[in-house]
Amino acid sequence: GAAGLTDTFGRQHRYLRISLTEKCNLRCTYCMPAEGLPLTPKDHILTTPEIIKLARIFVSEGVTKIRLTGGEPTVRKDLLEILDGLNALRPMGLEAIGMTTNALALKRKLPALKARGLDQLNISLDTLDPFKFELMTRRRGFDHVMDSIHAAVAEGFYPVKLNAVVIKNVNDMEVVRFVELTKDLPIYVRFIEYMPFGGNKWNEDKFVSYKTMLDGVRAVYPDVARLADEPNDTSKAWAIPGFAGKFGFITSMSDHFCGTCNRLRLLADGNLKVCLFGNSEVDLKHALRGGASDDELLDIIGAAVKRKRKQHAGMAELTKLPNRPMTLIGG
Ligand code: GTP
Ligand code: 5AD
Ligand code: SF4
Repeated sequence: GAAGLTDTFGRQHRYLRISLTEKCNLRCTYCMPAEGLPLTPKDHILTTPEIIKLARIFVSEGVTKIRLTGGEPTVRKDLLEILDGLNALRPMGLEAIGMTTNALALKRKLPALKARGLDQLNISLDTLDPFKFELMTRRRGFDHVMDSIHAAVAEGFYPVKLNAVVIKNVNDMEVVRFVELTKDLPIYVRFIEYMPFGGNKWNEDKFVSYKTMLDGVRAVYPDVARLADEPNDTSKAWAIPGFAGKFGFITSMSDHFCGTCNRLRLLADGNLKVCLFGNSEVDLKHALRGGASDDELLDIIGAAVKRKRKQHAGMAELTKLPNRPMTLIGG
C-alpha cells in the first residue's frame, strides 16, 4: 500500500523523477565542468524494461506523477518506448507524465511526444541573449531552443514551464525581460535560486534571492500580484495583470519547501535518491539484476524513504555537503 512511500514526517511520495541518461548536449557552467564528467558505463545504466519495472513498483505504491529528466532526456534513443511503458501504468494510478529538457533537439520530436502521452513539458533557458546562451551553455543553439518553446506551446502543452537559473552579474539583469515574455505567451516562467552542487563552483556572491528578484520586477511593474500555487509546487507564482502567462520563483535556498516535498529520484545508474541534497542513496539496479522480488525491492525503497531527513541542511552547510553534480541528478 501507499504507506511504503510515507516517510517518518508523514510526507507521502507521489512524484517520481526518473533520470534517463547522464549525457547532455549542452555544458551549462552551473551544472558541469567544461571537460564534462566521467559517466557511468552503458551497461550500468538502467535499460528500458528495468525503468518500466521499477516505475511500476513505485506506481503500485501510490506514485501518480513521473517526470523524465537527465542529463538531457531527449538524447535517450528509446525515449518513445519508455513513454509507451509508462502510459501502460495509467490504469494502475499514474496520472501525469512530464519531462524537463533543454529543448535544443526538441522541436521535431514534439508531435511524437504529444501523441505518445507526454503531458507536461518544462524547458530550461537561462538567457534571452544568443551570445550569453553560448557563454552559459558552452554550446550554440539559442534559436533552436526558442523555436522549440514556441512549437511546444503550439503543440498544446499547457502551461509550458520555462526554467531560468539566476546568477548574479550573469543573467540577473534579464529577469524583467523574461517576465515580459509572459505578456503574449501563455507560459509559466520560473526563476530558480542558484543552488550548490558537486563541482559547480557555487558561492554566495553569485546568489540572487527571491526577494531581490521580486523587488526588481516590482520596480517596473508595481501591480505585480501573487497567485495561488498547486499543493506540491516548487514555485511561488506571480503575474502581471493582463499578461497571458505567469512567472514564479523556486526558492530552494532562501525559503525551502521541504515540508511539502513529495519527490523521489531514480537515477540513470539505478540508484534511488530520496532528497535532491545529500548523498544518502540506495542501489536498486544491483538488487533488480540480482533477481530481487518486488517485495524485496519495496523493502529497500521503504527503508530509504524512512531515512529521509526533515529538510535540507541550509545554505552554509549545503556548500560543504558531498553531492553529485547536477547533471547526474537531473534536478
Ligand atoms: P513540476 O513537476 O512542474 O512541478 O516541476 P519541478 O519544479 O518539480 O521540476 P523541474 O525539473 O522543472 O525543476 C525545476 C527546479 O526545481 C530545478 O532547479 C530543480 O532542481 C528544482 N527542484 C525540483 N524538485 C526539487 C526538490 O525536491 N527540492 C528542491 N530543493 N528543488 C527541487
Ligand atoms: N541550481 C538551480 N537549478 C539548477 N538546475 C541545474 N543546475 C542548477 C543549480 N545549480 C536546473 C536546470 C533545469 C532543472 C532540472 O534544474 O536549469 O531547469
Ligand atoms: Fe545539461 Fe541541463 Fe545540466 Fe544544462 S542543466 S548541462 S542542459 S543537464
